[in-house]
Amino acid sequence: MKDHPTGAGASTFDLVDAGKLFQALGLRAGSTFLDLACGRGEYALEAADYVTAEGIIYALDLWDQGIETLKSEVRARGLEQIRPKVADISKRIPLEDHAANVCLIASALHDLLRDGDHDAVLQEIARVLKPTGRLAVVEFKKMAGPPGPPMVVRLSPEEVEKLLRPHHLVLMRTMDIGQHHYLSLFQLEDNAESECGHNSQVRCRESSVTPGYRYSAEQRRA
Ligand SMILES: C[S@@+](CC[C@H](N)C(=O)[O-])C[C@H]1O[C@@H](n2cnc3c(N)ncnc32)[C@H](O)[C@@H]1O
Repeated sequence: MKDHPTGAGASTFDLVDAGKLFQALGLRAGSTFLDLACGRGEYALEAADYVTAEGIIYALDLWDQGIETLKSEVRARGLEQIRPKVADISKRIPLEDHAANVCLIASALHDLLRDGDHDAVLQEIARVLKPTGRLAVVEFKKMAGPPGPPMVVRLSPEEVEKLLRPHHLVLMRTMDIGQHHYLSLFQLEDNAESECGHNSQVRCRESSVTPGYRYSAEQRRA
């Protein structure tokens, strides 16, 4: 186990527009939500209202201090639907196949890439997502900070999409969720039907991100 996982202690929750993010995630009462590399679990705590007591939230991180903090918070608030657990997600995500409706990886993909662990994690994500599930990737925009990591490790939406393609995760849309962050939503290729009604061979792209991230309105072949 790593003594101090990359990015441990840093949280982005206060920087994002959580209302906009959770609206895009489409969680419902009874949903199973997976907060990967959750840190102290701020996103998992926010998700509790959306999945209600009927749902389940798995909150996983390698940083045991963060997981202990989340466990205390969960106990204090009586949120039994949240299951915090220490786990190295590059080794295995401790869930059965096709268990999650929505999986979130917030401000951690760039850290996993730096560690060379991204492919192992993405393979696991594709395994645990339900066929109709969604993967939400939150990343810092590729512009100079602070806040956030150095420019050299930041990922553009295009770079995120390129990392996910080999794992049959196809882009649904990318949107701004605050001054510093964007959200890219993905689904598994076999079930991909874009919001413009095409299958995964032709995808529509939303142009609701800030200049520099604006996609061409035209559809392009995958
Ligand atoms: C920048 S923090 C983001 C925390 C949280 N998602 C947020 O945005 O508030 C990155 C997190 O990734 C975790 N992490 C890094 N490598 C990991 C691994 N292999 N398995 C599980 N968690 C890992 C770190 O411990 C850290 O909590």
